[in-house]
Amino acid sequence: MVKAIILAAGKGTRMKSEIPKVLHTIFDKPLLGYVLDSVIKSGIIDYSYIITGHKAQMVDEYVKDNYINACTILQSPQLGTGHAVSMAIDKLNGYSGEVIILCGDTPLIKSETIKNIVSFHNENKADITVVSAVFDNPANYGRIVRNPDGSLCKIVEEKDASPNQKEIKEINAGIYCLNWGKVNSAFSELKNNNAQGEYYLTDIIQWGVKNGLKTIAFTIKDNNEIFGINSRKNLAEASKILHDEVINKHLNNGVTIISPETTWISPDTEIGSDTIIYPNCYINGKNKIGQNCKIGPFAHIRGGVEIDKGVKIGNFVELKKTKVKSHTNICHLSYVGDAEVGENVNIGAGTITANYNPLTKEKSKTVIEDNVKIGSNSVLVAPVTIREGANVGAVGVITKDVSPWSLAVTRSPLKILEGWVKKQLKK
Ligand code: UD1
Ligand code: CA
Repeated sequence: MVKAIILAAGKGTRMKSEIPKVLHTIFDKPLLGYVLDSVIKSGIIDYSYIITGHKAQMVDEYVKDNYINACTILQSPQLGTGHAVSMAIDKLNGYSGEVIILCGDTPLIKSETIKNIVSFHNENKADITVVSAVFDNPANYGRIVRNPDGSLCKIVEEKDASPNQKEIKEINAGIYCLNWGKVNSAFSELKNNNAQGEYYLTDIIQWGVKNGLKTIAFTIKDNNEIFGINSRKNLAEASKILHDEVINKHLNNGVTIISPETTWISPDTEIGSDTIIYPNCYINGKNKIGQNCKIGPFAHIRGGVEIDKGVKIGNFVELKKTKVKSHTNICHLSYVGDAEVGENVNIGAGTITANYNPLTKEKSKTVIEDNVKIGSNSVLVAPVTIREGANVGAVGVITKDVSPWSLAVTRSPLKILEGWVKKQLKK
C-alpha cells in the first residue's frame, strides 16, 4: 500500500481568515476533507501524514475527529514545500514503498486520478513522478523544463524563471509520486538559494535526474482537478466546478433538475432516477434520495437524510437527520429533524419537530409511524412517538406518545359569539 503526505501548513494569507485555509469548506466539508476522502476512496493508500503549521491545532482536531489512518505532523517554522515533506522522514523511517504527495488546498482531485498517477508511476518503473498540466495562462505556477529530447530537466518557480522559461505552458501541479526508499536522502541535500529563500520540493526533479533516478511526468487531463484555493474567489469558483459536476452526474443518472443554476446538491448525496428537483433547493451533507420523489421548490436538506421512493418534499421544508419511508408527503413549511417518518404519512403545513431542548442542549427523536396524518401547524415535542395510523388535529402540541389509530387534539373548543362585532360597534 502507498502512503500519502498532504501539505497543509501554509497560512493562506489571501483568505483573510482566522481559520486555516484547509479548513475552509465547500458544502460544509473542509478542503482537507475532500483530499482525504479522495485518498481513501482511491483504495491504494493506507495512511496519510498531514503537514500542519498555521493554526495546526484546529487542523489536528479536525483530522482526529473525522479520520482514522491519518495523523498530523507539525512543521514549524515553515521553510518551504521540500522542508514540509522532510517532516515525515522520521515517521516513514524504514518504509521504502511509494509515497504520493498532495496539497490540502486542492480539493477537486479525484480518487481515480490518484490511482492513475500511482499506476503510471509503477508501470513506468519510475522513481519520481511529477504531475504536470498544460495551462494557457501558466502564471504563478512552477514551470516544467524539459530537455530537447523531451525528458525532464527541472522545475523552475515563476519567481526564479527567465523570460523564456515563463513562456512554458506546462506547469507543476504540485502532486508527486515518489519511491521513498530512493528519494528520502534528497531532502538533506535541498538548498534554499532561490528567490523565496525556501527549500523547494520541486528541486527533487533536478536531484533525481542528476542522481540517475527515473524521473518522469504524468500529465493530467482535467485541469479542474488541480484547481488550488488561494482566495475566497477561488473557493467560490471551486464550489461552482463541483456544483456543475454534481448536477451533470445526476442529470446523466436520470434525475430531472429543473433549474441547475439555482439547485445546489452536495457531492455526497445520492438521488434515484425519475426524481424531480424543483428550483432553489439546497441539499447539503450526506443524503440518499430515492426514485420518483419530488423535492422543492425551496427545500433545504441538511444532511443525514434518507428518503425512500415516491416521497414529496415541498416548499420551505427543512429536513435534517431524518428517514422518510415511501409515499409520504411533507409538502409545505415544515421542519423535520432527528426523526423517523413511516410510509404513507401526511405531514400538514407548518409542522415542527421540536427536537432541541435549549436547557439541556439535548436533541431528541421523533418517530412517526406508517399512515399517520399530522394536522397543520402542529408541534411534536421530542422525544415522542406517533403510533401507526394515528391522527393529530391541527395545531396539536404533542408532548406524549399517541396510541395507534387514535386522534390527538390539543386545541380549546371553538366559540362563536353571535353578533359580537356589531355590539362592539354600537358602543
Ligand atoms: C507550489 C510549487 C509550484 C507548483 C504549485 C502548484 C514549490 C516550491 N512550488 O507552489 O511549482 O506549480 O505549488 O500549486 O513547491 N506548504 C507547507 N509548508 C511550507 C510551504 C508550503 O506545508 O513550508 C504547503 C502549502 O500549505 C500548500 C502547498 O504546500 O498547500 C504548496 O505551497 P505554496 O506556497 O502554495 O506553493 P506554490 O507557490 O503554490
Ligand atoms: Ca499554492
